[in-house]
Amino acid sequence: MSPSLWTAARSLLPPEAAHRAAIAWLSHPALVPPQTLKDDPITLWGITFKNRIGMAAGFDKNGEAVAGLARLGFGHIEVGTITPLPQPGNARPRVFRLPEDQAIINRYGFNSAGAEAAYRNLSALSPDVRRSVVLGVNIGKNKDTQDAAVDYRHGLKRFHDIADYITINISSPNTPNLRDLQRAEPLRRLLSECRETLAGLSPSPPLLLKIAPDLDALALNDLLDQVIATRIDGLIISNTTLARPQTLKNPHAKETGGLSGKPLMGPSTDILKQASENLKERGLTLPLIGVGGIGSAEDVQAKIGAGACLIQAYTAFALGGFGIMRSW
Ligand SMILES: Cc1cc2nc3c(=O)[nH]c(=O)nc-3n(C[C@H](O)[C@H](O)[C@H](O)COP(=O)(O)O)c2cc1C
Repeated sequence: MSPSLWTAARSLLPPEAAHRAAIAWLSHPALVPPQTLKDDPITLWGITFKNRIGMAAGFDKNGEAVAGLARLGFGHIEVGTITPLPQPGNARPRVFRLPEDQAIINRYGFNSAGAEAAYRNLSALSPDVRRSVVLGVNIGKNKDTQDAAVDYRHGLKRFHDIADYITINISSPNTPNLRDLQRAEPLRRLLSECRETLAGLSPSPPLLLKIAPDLDALALNDLLDQVIATRIDGLIISNTTLARPQTLKNPHAKETGGLSGKPLMGPSTDILKQASENLKERGLTLPLIGVGGIGSAEDVQAKIGAGACLIQAYTAFALGGFGIMRSW
């Protein structure tokens, strides 16, 4: 299917059905016309990214569409969030388009085929696909797990030999109490346990942390203390927001869940800039991945100006198709 035909078909379907159809399409790379993005290589953690543009987590939750996404020209693809055991996520409907606001609200709640199924999908990728794109694996916890560290350690052990980097996601707003793991003491414990697990594994990929945009300066500073103490290799800033700006027009604005897209651009860039400046004041640099609300080349430049070395996007592709990134 051509990308423009896909764009037209997509808007006729309810959002979750459109999401499933996109995954089905991209899991057949022969149906995906190759797209070439501007060459803009950058090396981080000894890994060369052919460009700065990545597919954000949450689109390809189970690693089914990597080959198709690679054909679209992404420099990196972050699959997940993957939980150790399969789980269904929240009741439907759980994704809402807010077209007037260029936004989405979702409360998927980590619907996941589980680590074994995702690992099988990723293992089946051809060496050519694996060489053409950097693969990030974003890991989470099952809803009913009491000790979160057990699930994150499980994810590290399962994916360390297949991922180019691994992201610890503690910033989804749709898993009860998950964001509490961003507080200093639980975070220190979680990250040190993950660090210890990775130290016993070979290969031991870079470990990234994905954070929420809804942190005040003090909470961010405390979080950075723990990130530095546990030698986290990079931050992904940010996940969706619980905030509901007054400017939202679509009636779905009242839905529970995480808001993404244009209204998130300002807040997520602000916290990215705060993190970058905080680290600079400490005399430290850490690779930062900017995500939230990117929809144009200017937005990409704004994230880079705020301290990002890579960027990711999701909502702009869901609303406008993958062709939009050709001008980034
Ligand atoms: C429908 C949907 C599902 C998402 N699921 C996840 C997820 O499973 N894990 C995760 O780390 N982020 C998830 N995200 C957040 C995105 O990765 C990204 O951080 C956020 O949407 C901001 O970027 P955007 O404005 O370009 O969409 C999801 C976003 C959307 C719209």
